[in-house]
Amino acid sequence: MAVSVAQRIARALRGKPTLVLGLPTGRTPLNLYRELARLTAAGQADFSRASTFNLDEFLGLAAAHPGSYRSYMERHLFTHVNLQPDRIHLLDGNARDPLRECEHYERAIREAGGIDLQLLGIGANGHIGFNEPGPSVSARTHRTRLHPETRRANAMLFGGDWRKVPREALSVGVGTILRAREIILLATGRDKAACIQRMVYGPVTPRVPASFLQLHSNVRLVLDATAGASVRGPTRRRPRR
Ligand code: F6R
Repeated sequence: MAVSVAQRIARALRGKPTLVLGLPTGRTPLNLYRELARLTAAGQADFSRASTFNLDEFLGLAAAHPGSYRSYMERHLFTHVNLQPDRIHLLDGNARDPLRECEHYERAIREAGGIDLQLLGIGANGHIGFNEPGPSVSARTHRTRLHPETRRANAMLFGGDWRKVPREALSVGVGTILRAREIILLATGRDKAACIQRMVYGPVTPRVPASFLQLHSNVRLVLDATAGASVRGPTRRRPRR
């Protein structure tokens, strides 16, 4: 998975050196980032004119905090590829005015020409970025409350203690994601199988934010056998009596 997606990215960079990439954090892209580092070292990927926009960041954390997504990205990708620092963008979780920070981020994405290639992971509850399941989704970059299961899934960044994971975050919106020209979603592991099936075959609903990807015309899912295990076909609903 990592090799094929890394090669797709390297090809996209060759076709458009000023490529604008949207990036996730989490466990899923770790092998991909390792492979991108390897391709860069081998002279097969060139990020020197590319730009990146990360999907999300914890609220109330300084960028240098070891649990921040900025630190994660520095550790796993930015220090291993030749991106120019001024073309790397992450939401500032420590911004004095988070709402202004969100507006500023939307504007920066627009001014960069929009996202060419958006990489995504998916939460077991169907979230993309930090767009959590609920009665509605936000179209644009916004401030959001994290579900306890999302905080638990991020505990490894905070010494294994999920209570230390911030309760809130900033995240690009579902509309921001859907405006990307191409989307690649990666998922591995049995715990993702149910949400993958609901994303692909279920109704488009804010209860499964990833289901909005059905509205996009250029999405590729890259799944391992366990994450793809229950993608068998549309779920049949029992007729109501
Ligand atoms: C994080 C992000 C999240 C993760 C998702 C899956 O930047 O966008 O939506 O992609 O929580 O996380 P992992 O890969 O750890 O299962």
